[in-house]
Amino acid sequence: MQRQAFDWRQAGRRVVLVPTMGALHDGHRSLINLARKKVKKGGVVVVSIYVNPAQFNDPQDLENYPRTLSSDKKICREESVDIVFAPNNLYKKEESVEVKENSLTTRLEGVHRPGHFAGVMTVVAKLFNLVLPDFSVFGEKDFQQVAVIRRMVRDLNYPVSILVGPTLREENGLAMSSRNVLLTNDHRDQAAVLSRAIEFSRQSIGSRSSDLKRKLRRLIEKQPDAQVDYIEFVDTISLSPVTKVKKGSRILLAVKIGSVRLIDNGLL
Ligand code: PAJ
Repeated sequence: MQRQAFDWRQAGRRVVLVPTMGALHDGHRSLINLARKKVKKGGVVVVSIYVNPAQFNDPQDLENYPRTLSSDKKICREESVDIVFAPNNLYKKEESVEVKENSLTTRLEGVHRPGHFAGVMTVVAKLFNLVLPDFSVFGEKDFQQVAVIRRMVRDLNYPVSILVGPTLREENGLAMSSRNVLLTNDHRDQAAVLSRAIEFSRQSIGSRSSDLKRKLRRLIEKQPDAQVDYIEFVDTISLSPVTKVKKGSRILLAVKIGSVRLIDNGLL
């Protein structure tokens, strides 16, 4: 991969990387389209597909994660992706270096999924070093992940521009996610409550965060199999909690529907 990347560089071709864990859906497709728009025909669009064990804190989640490489490749062909980079393994036996961030990752997903972001940053750093992209595209669906990757790029001086695509949703409002295929039809209906909670917050500008959180928890847990992991209102730039919900704040939430953990977020 890296040899190929050096050849592209030498030929003056611009490279854009879309990192994924596969089980591609229309959200991923939209990021691929954004990538193509950025580098046009003469550029190279690389989609990486790698279910990265280092970012799973729950072994059961890793085992259940959908793996659909052949249909993923078909989607990439349809979207005129130049290269699908799907390594079997990206780690040597005894790797002892990882990338760790000490501020943004101390909250939200970082608290609920210990080690998750170090796993994400380490694999993204490795992918950047293998693919040598000029640009890399991420989804706003994983809002904290975008903030953490931007911080890594800034603090480690990666010569990569980060592009962000909006969250694509199902008709019922559920944010598209590779994990959605693990939901039963009934759970899919219940999962629509996450986006309804975001909508409810948009109608509640001016509330105290703690009051609104309590209300939302009640709203969400009315669904028989929903269990809130966290609901937070944060400043959309710094990700620090806000006590009063204002226009321009962001809600981030994680909810388990049965055994499937879903995250979502929205600008208020
Ligand atoms: P994965 O969950 O496969 O997501 C790949 C990219 O697609 C991420 O940038 C994610 O934010 C984006 N994405 C997911 N759902 C989306 C949606 N509904 N609309 C728009 N974009 C969406 O995120 C990861 O993989 C991994 O952590 C990775 C960055 C690949 C590192 O292993």
